[in-house]
Amino acid sequence: MRTPVIAGNWKLFKKRAEARELVNGLAPLVKDVQGVEIIVAPVFTVLAAVKGALDGSAIKLAGQDCFWEEEGAYTGEISPGMLVDAGCSHVIIGHSERRQYFGETDETVNRKIKAALKAGLTAIACIGESLVEREAGTTFDVLRAQLNGGLAGLSAGDLKDVIIAYEPVWAIGTGKTATDAQAQEAHAFIRGVVSELLGKPAAEAVRILYGGSVKPENIKGLMTQPDIDGALVGGASLKADSFAAIASFS
Ligand code: G3P
Repeated sequence: MRTPVIAGNWKLFKKRAEARELVNGLAPLVKDVQGVEIIVAPVFTVLAAVKGALDGSAIKLAGQDCFWEEEGAYTGEISPGMLVDAGCSHVIIGHSERRQYFGETDETVNRKIKAALKAGLTAIACIGESLVEREAGTTFDVLRAQLNGGLAGLSAGDLKDVIIAYEPVWAIGTGKTATDAQAQEAHAFIRGVVSELLGKPAAEAVRILYGGSVKPENIKGLMTQPDIDGALVGGASLKADSFAAIASFS
């Protein structure tokens, strides 16, 4: 039985006051949610404020990215250990927006995952195809390449500290959610590739989240799918009531 995960990727939103307001509104709404890991991923500058506001809550904290070195002459970067120091237990790695705008590659994703695990973080590793790739019928090729590259050199044991997030790029921020069947098909394929790479037990244990226009209206259908273990939520995570409704899916 895989523990479901509902994670909120706040992206480039919420300064400290707004961040505290969101968390102070969210925490009481989800305090009775059982058996679901709830995570919020704010911008780096509000991690301390959000950590303080989360005090006493089971809600976990994640960074939205990290570097692959712990320290050095890398202006502007944040190390996995610094995220741990700020109170994070998780980190999002390889989000499509990092790939699109900031040159993230499967190779850099792999380096970051390894560094995150070494620092004791759980890595939320993002993969997903573009609309052009889906319409060209190459979705599975893309996902396989991203998994081969992103998970290169990891052991089956390492995978207990990795969560995979399938985020079809064409569903991110568009309001056009993948259908339950489309998402399940991709998740089942992903689990199959992980099984080829690291064995069936690791594949059966790894959580695979869906991301891309998740809303309170569609989470229940997604969560009925056998290979969907939760959601990585963008826009709907910026409002306490909608994110709480998603986290309360069961
Ligand atoms: O990382 C989650 C994000 O990419 C999904 O965004 O706004 O479509 O829920 P959104």
